[in-house]
Amino acid sequence: KQITVTDMQGQTREVEINPGWSLMELLRENDYDEILAMCGGACSCATCHVHIRNADQLKLPPVEEDEEMLLMTTEAYDAERSRLSCQIPMTEAMDGMQVQIVEMD
Ligand code: FES
Repeated sequence: KQITVTDMQGQTREVEINPGWSLMELLRENDYDEILAMCGGACSCATCHVHIRNADQLKLPPVEEDEEMLLMTTEAYDAERSRLSCQIPMTEAMDGMQVQIVEMD
């Protein structure tokens, strides 16, 4: 099972899903250092912000209030696609997810 990741330079590659990890951990482990994840996954920094291009086709966990508040403070906020990658647990059901890494501010 795989996801597709596009970085800030527009380069796209496939990344194997590791069930049980968060999307943030998966991205960091695959050398996407632009995901700073400064709070270590505690939902309090927004430096793990990504856009999920096909969010409407996946069963993602709902956006909690604190996650939404943080996302709304970011430059690249998109109500349909923005997520904190540390708040998305990876499962095989995430197969085909299209992740866009966005500019941090
Ligand atoms: Fe800080 Fe996700 S790592 S909010």
